[in-house]
Amino acid sequence: APAPPVTLVIFGATGDLTRRLLIPSLVNLTRSGLVGDDLHILGVGIEPGDETMLVERLEAFLAGLGGAEAVSGDQAWLRLKQRISYISGDFTKDEVFLEISNRLALTTVGNAAFYLAVPPQFFGTIVEKLGKHGLVTENDAAFRRIAIEKPFGTDLASARALNAQILNTVSEKQVYRLDHFLGKETVQNIMTARFANMMIEALWNSNYIDHVQITAAEVVDVGSRGKFYDATGALRDMIPNHLFQLLAMVAMEPPNSFHAEAIRNEKSKLLEALRIYTPQEAQTHSARGAYTVGTMNGATIPAYRETKDIAPESNTETFVALKLYADTWRWAGVPFYLRTGKAMAARDTEIVVTFKRVPFAQFRETDVSRKLPPNRLVIQVQPDEGLSMELSIKSPGQSVDTVPVSLDFRYADQFDISKTTGYESLLYELFVGDQTLFQRADGIEAGWAVVQPFLDLWAKGGSPEDYEPGSDGPKSAQDLIERDGRTWRPLGETLRHNER
Ligand code: BG6
Repeated sequence: APAPPVTLVIFGATGDLTRRLLIPSLVNLTRSGLVGDDLHILGVGIEPGDETMLVERLEAFLAGLGGAEAVSGDQAWLRLKQRISYISGDFTKDEVFLEISNRLALTTVGNAAFYLAVPPQFFGTIVEKLGKHGLVTENDAAFRRIAIEKPFGTDLASARALNAQILNTVSEKQVYRLDHFLGKETVQNIMTARFANMMIEALWNSNYIDHVQITAAEVVDVGSRGKFYDATGALRDMIPNHLFQLLAMVAMEPPNSFHAEAIRNEKSKLLEALRIYTPQEAQTHSARGAYTVGTMNGATIPAYRETKDIAPESNTETFVALKLYADTWRWAGVPFYLRTGKAMAARDTEIVVTFKRVPFAQFRETDVSRKLPPNRLVIQVQPDEGLSMELSIKSPGQSVDTVPVSLDFRYADQFDISKTTGYESLLYELFVGDQTLFQRADGIEAGWAVVQPFLDLWAKGGSPEDYEPGSDGPKSAQDLIERDGRTWRPLGETLRHNER
């Protein structure tokens, strides 16, 4: 069903996120009829200019992506661009909010969503000003919502403070905290895979599962994002948000319904059950690294510490691996190994669920410990989205011997999800008022509470271990899992398998 009429007010309208993700998603939603002529976009930015400036800039960017003709002939864009307006100003000042108020008063539609596509230091101020100017007061005829990008806080204390500040102005029902991983089809599909399939969910516990690996590896290096990245690091950038969302989807209890609150209750419960380590435990359950100088795809990349805007003595990590536990009945004793990093061997975001070995193997010619691999379920989040189940079968012939095989589902074989940005469902849900794909205050704080001991530990000193660009990360990350008699699934394995 089409979204209700709404004005989308975008703070940071001339920024990267707006042109790269928000506008292309709105074009896609227009094309599919999910938003129409009653969607209005009001951009707000510090850049001088008017709607013509904004529209021209957006158009130039879209042309860069798809070619000038694709843009001039794109009915969806031509329709959408009629309804873009712009306010130039400093959004820490009251004038801008008075102007927004005037513009909103001009539309007959009272519904508005305020999208904060701005650096995090402005989140609190903008929300306060929205409140002060009465812009987020709802009534029966009109909703008022706030969408907030990451990073949401930089540690537990700052996340709590930001939540308190926001909830001082609006109610939780009005807040849409984004985690763009939740916009990915493959991530949303985790719940369906689990709760629509008896053969998966029935085995989903410590009786049958040995351990879970969650990886988000990237080949890109820090590049021009030095300023942001050096103050952030791999842990803050990826773990309490993206990887914990994957973890919550994988490990939560079945919700009573598919309503937002039911799902978010279960996710928060799971995040609250993650074990909080002592400093000593944090030390032995983690590994971190920073890449050195090296070559990737034939090009030399500078060491992290020699990158623009990075202090030569920086102790920021570009790779992190953690071993965590969810202290629940279902997951008692099952380790969750998480890792993420930049400048790695392959782009590979995946969840690997490794089942226990069979209790007894009667195959005469199979040395069980060496040859009979455990079953694995691999949820490939990206690239080459899909799901595979690794089983053992009898190798054809007279002797009874087993070989591992893989049953593969690839989205690309049956669906086309390549033309979406991942923001379409997030924006649509923001307009229709479904908070399922957004983070709630308690879930965010539970996540930060789990990573806080690692932040504290690293703040005290020590440096990340070197790793080579294009590798699987530092040696300590291998040790972290190999100490337990397990190994990481090699990066890029799914792509290589699919190519064969
Ligand atoms: C962002 C991080 O939130 O997620 C980036 O700030 C990271 O550092 C990105 O590259 C990864 O997202 P995706 O969708 O490309 O896997």
